[in-house]
Amino acid sequence: MNHAVSGFSKLGKEEKIRLIAQTYFTDAEKAETLVKSYWNSDEKLQQLHDEFIENTITNFYLPLGIAPNFLINEKFYTVPMAVEESSVVAAAAKAAKFWSTRGGFKTTVVGTEKIGQVHFMFNGSHAKIQEFFNLIKPALFSDTESITKNMQQRGGGILDIELRDKTDLLENYFQLHATFETKDSMGANFINSCLEQFASTLKSKAQQHSLFSEQEKDIKVVMSILSNYVPNCVVRAEVSCPVADLKEKNIDDGKVFAENFVQAVNIAKVEPFRAVTHNKGIMNGIDAVVVATGNDFRAVEAGVHAYAAKDGRYTSLSDARIENGIFYFSVEVPLALGTVGGLTTLHPLVRFCHEVLEKPSAPELMQITAAVGLAQNFAALRSLTTTGIQQGHMKMHLNNIINQFNAAPAEREAITAHFKKNAVSHAAVVDFISELRKK
Ligand code: MEV
Repeated sequence: MNHAVSGFSKLGKEEKIRLIAQTYFTDAEKAETLVKSYWNSDEKLQQLHDEFIENTITNFYLPLGIAPNFLINEKFYTVPMAVEESSVVAAAAKAAKFWSTRGGFKTTVVGTEKIGQVHFMFNGSHAKIQEFFNLIKPALFSDTESITKNMQQRGGGILDIELRDKTDLLENYFQLHATFETKDSMGANFINSCLEQFASTLKSKAQQHSLFSEQEKDIKVVMSILSNYVPNCVVRAEVSCPVADLKEKNIDDGKVFAENFVQAVNIAKVEPFRAVTHNKGIMNGIDAVVVATGNDFRAVEAGVHAYAAKDGRYTSLSDARIENGIFYFSVEVPLALGTVGGLTTLHPLVRFCHEVLEKPSAPELMQITAAVGLAQNFAALRSLTTTGIQQGHMKMHLNNIINQFNAAPAEREAITAHFKKNAVSHAAVVDFISELRKK
């Protein structure tokens, strides 16, 4: 279909599927059947999912796995993780178990402040706009009272509003830079509603301001939107234990292991190419919890990587050191998460995940998520600095290939036994299966 389609959204679900199937597939019927095989037989549940977005044709599955044994601040958590990468859940579970016998994870919420901005253009006296802002600041608060009432009852609301002069960066560019406390909600709707009201108050008050010239009265609001960069909505997770206690399978000598591990983190601190992959490993865990709990993983990703570059150079989010024979490993990440509102109330499986976590508050969820990120980073660095990452990956990969070939139980046993002693590669497994089937 090398042309625009008009009226696609007006078609019914079946018509949309037919159009796609007939346009892009030689066997349209097979394509239609595939798409429909992902529909839920419970029509009500299917309708709920259909209505989350526009132009829904079916569901897109991600596995939901469980990483048990997360000991965080003396409490055990069972963590649901939605992720497609084969070794992620196994790695998290293994690291959680490892640290559960070494004091567990210690986590603290450093801050929960969210940010939003009204970006506007003002062509006039800088002193006058500052004076005008001081004058209208109480009105910015009072005009949003109907929006902030419920949030204030929950202990949240607008923390502060500042006028920021950005004209050194862009001619006539100013901002209302506002900070918010949104308690257990991620707060995007609340923040954006407040900001749009600020923008309206700003414009109308400027029109009435007698000290402004006609040109100064004409404030041009460009946009009002929350920022996904939340450097004051941060959580910290740490593990520590005597270096000697690190000894385990694949770790012959705790001291050598700890020293190599610290160097691996040091490399990520100074080398951005490594830091990105290092942080990706942390996000393997964080994203999986963020998705399972119905939070916005794009917002989290954007904010986390901006935070990793906050000092002007992209660096590691985690830190490791050895001090007086103790190994310390920690991570600090900004996480704007919610446990009420949005998908957290609408999506039945998301609700299930919150129940498994025993209905955490947003700060508690921040701590769980950071601990999973740290566990994931520990698991990756442990493999990388000992056996290499491929051993674990190929084990999971082998399983995927076995499934791809619909291996019978006896075949599965023979394949697994063979590849315990031989290197796994896609070609080697395929050859082995063909030989096996010839016999
Ligand atoms: C793979 O998804 C994640 C790792 O590359 C992370 C890392 O290198 O630290 C293993």
